[in-house]
Amino acid sequence: MYRNPTGFQSDFYYVYGAGGHAHVVIDCLRSQGIGVKAIFDDHPERRHPGHLGVRPGIRMTGNGDFPVLEYPVVLCVGRNAERAELVELLEARYGIACHTSAIVAPSAKIGAGTVILHGAIIQPNTVIGRHVLVNTAASIDHDNRIGDFAHISPHVTLCGHVEVGEGTHIGAGAMVIPKVKIGKWSTIGAGTVVLHDIGDHVTAVGNPARILAGSTGQVMPQLQGRPAAGLLR
Ligand SMILES: CC(C)(COP(=O)(O)OP(=O)(O)OC[C@H]1O[C@@H](n2cnc3c(N)ncnc32)[C@H](O)[C@@H]1OP(=O)(O)O)[C@@H](O)C(=O)NCCC(=O)NCCS
Repeated sequence: MYRNPTGFQSDFYYVYGAGGHAHVVIDCLRSQGIGVKAIFDDHPERRHPGHLGVRPGIRMTGNGDFPVLEYPVVLCVGRNAERAELVELLEARYGIACHTSAIVAPSAKIGAGTVILHGAIIQPNTVIGRHVLVNTAASIDHDNRIGDFAHISPHVTLCGHVEVGEGTHIGAGAMVIPKVKIGKWSTIGAGTVVLHDIGDHVTAVGNPARILAGSTGQVMPQLQGRPAAGLLR
């Protein structure tokens, strides 16, 4: 079986989520030779690709019959706050999904549940938290620190020694110059060029980046800090 550069391996995963992002992650797992044991969907009323073969998972507010999971789970939901909420609800072991076309330096550290998609590059001494989404062809250079639940969108360039806080979304094609710190649960617009530090809970756009007046950044998770609900039996 393919041994991914993060050192994590399992023959099968469970996929949580059934939308377009799940489809991409499934392709990513298959590239690693990892089979998908089951796909769970907590929004079965929404349309999802017919061939994914989903079964209902838990609902955010109810006690669904989520089975005991003998394989790692990967959360395939794009909204950062929703991944954080699911982690509060599920007692699961989380696996890393890393496409074979991604390049991850051996000295980089990758947290559980993180997804690294096609063609992404993660350079030496970078530390990536849990349940981060490193999207297609994103470039994360050396000595970066990326917080849990962040999303680094397609074709983002983070230069060396950049910090991105928990839950922050860096929009597609954004560029962050070296040593810049971006706070928690903020949003950086697509194509933004970030030259200076950005705080928590704001949205910044443009070149050079400007904070949108009255912006609050990413939606915060509702269940943050609550004990796990113990839904898995
Ligand atoms: C930043 C963003 C979240 C703002 O969305 P919003 O809160 O709905 O903001 P609005 O569309 O009302 O725009 C507010 C202002 O910001 C400007 N603006 C919005 N996004 C911008 C961007 N990416 N670059 C430059 N200016 C931008 C708008 O022109 C508008 O300016 P004005 O007030 O002078 O007219 C959104 O535009 C964006 O870029 N999202 C990233 C999407 C993405 O990359 N997804 C990746 C998925 S994989």
